[in-house]
Amino acid sequence: MAINLAVLLSGSGTTLQNILDTAAAGTLDARVSCVVSSRENAYGLERARKAGVPAAVVPRKSYDDPGSFSDAVWAEIDKYPVDLVVLAGFMSLLVIPPRFENRIMNVHPALIPAFCGKGMYGAHVHTAVLDLGAKVTGVTVHFVDNEYDNGPIILQRPVSVAEDDTPETLAARVQAEERKAYPAAIQLFAEGRITVVDGRVRIGR
Ligand code: GAR
Repeated sequence: MAINLAVLLSGSGTTLQNILDTAAAGTLDARVSCVVSSRENAYGLERARKAGVPAAVVPRKSYDDPGSFSDAVWAEIDKYPVDLVVLAGFMSLLVIPPRFENRIMNVHPALIPAFCGKGMYGAHVHTAVLDLGAKVTGVTVHFVDNEYDNGPIILQRPVSVAEDDTPETLAARVQAEERKAYPAAIQLFAEGRITVVDGRVRIGR
């Protein structure tokens, strides 16, 4: 049976679109039950509407602190029977209630613990990789805890860095890998194959 997802975003929503498309193609056993955006002008909201998915805006700037903002986000999510929360370019800190431990995923466009933490998102990550002269970067899908880019790692995929890469060309190859890795991790969850033991993910058959 398909699991129910809440997708949280702040921007263009290409990650949401990929999940919608993969589910529609039948290779991901999940349905997007709701979308919550922390920005009212996020294009991801338009993608949700086009797909007929209920979408809510909880503007981060309307709240004084992460706690009150997070309470408002969870109030939206709790309107639906959600199995897994999927962060999809969600740029605000979310306080996680214990009942959602190991039930929130994030995709990070690098191999954690490299190139992660506060301020490391989107193009900043790829610029940092190129500035250092790293030869390999990649994609990490992980469960989210109450620290930036932390929590048990579910899967990682490497991406080679080319000498003539720009942040844009590197981002394109990393995002192509994200588009495969994120649905793959969600599908493992849907199949009940992920367990977390001592903070480490084990993938069952
Ligand atoms: C994704 O490429 C993801 O790697 C990155 O934001 C992008 C969102 O794109 N996430 C992070 O950097 C998390 N630290 P989207 O808004 O089009 O889905």
